[in-house]
Amino acid sequence: FADGITEGERKKVDNVAHRGASGYAPENTIAAFDLAVDMKADYIEIDVQRSKDGELVLIHDTTVNRTTNGTGRVGELTLEQLRKLDAGSWFGSEFAGELIPTFDEILDRYRGKIGILVELKAPELYPGIEAQVAEALKKRNMDKSKNNKIIIQSFNFESVKKVNELLPRIPIGVLTSNRADTTVEALQEFSTYADWFNPSYGIVTKELVEQVHSLGMKIGSWTVRTPEAADFLFEMGVDAIITDYPDYVDPRN
Ligand code: G3P
Ligand code: CA
Repeated sequence: FADGITEGERKKVDNVAHRGASGYAPENTIAAFDLAVDMKADYIEIDVQRSKDGELVLIHDTTVNRTTNGTGRVGELTLEQLRKLDAGSWFGSEFAGELIPTFDEILDRYRGKIGILVELKAPELYPGIEAQVAEALKKRNMDKSKNNKIIIQSFNFESVKKVNELLPRIPIGVLTSNRADTTVEALQEFSTYADWFNPSYGIVTKELVEQVHSLGMKIGSWTVRTPEAADFLFEMGVDAIITDYPDYVDPRN
């Protein structure tokens, strides 16, 4: 076991339900988030973008084409247009009528029930989205503590740097699947503003985990879709496993 820990005393790994329990319910919907709560995940991971009229909404792709019955770019549809779409049927007829959630709705529904790992998805498309996210958290007094299980992450490093300035107490995560971002120099730079380094599991090694820890950051990795991938990440000693199947992580904790 990692860090000389024996099986009986293995450290707790955060179980993060990727886009909700998205192996079992349509991603980024209340059905998937509620299921993650029922499955006792520690966090839900959500993808935040913005409608044409400025509302923060949860959807992974920058178009609605794959996960709804509509077509078009998220940023070119109004909230009213987005909320008319069915975000569940593509996954299974029993999920018909699931809606694209708003960020506000999800903060109100899940705060205190489960942690929220907020990904700013393609923030370069939505100028000022960092301040909007910060405002939504501040309005709810959710920006005051490092320990209220809110983390904000992005593949866009400039964006999360901005968030760190706006919300100095909120933990920040850096997302990458790029080996070039795992050099000591790159990690040192990330550690000046990030609390989490969150790579795809294909680039995770024990050395990387140790390096990230030695710089005072934690490491969460994605996307686990098999029990073997979960095993691998437990063996590597990561702090969080981001998975479509929370049950692949839970029994080992
Ligand atoms: O949380 C990590 C993961 O969500 C990053 O990739 O494409 O699923 O948003 P993606
Ligand atoms: Ca994501």
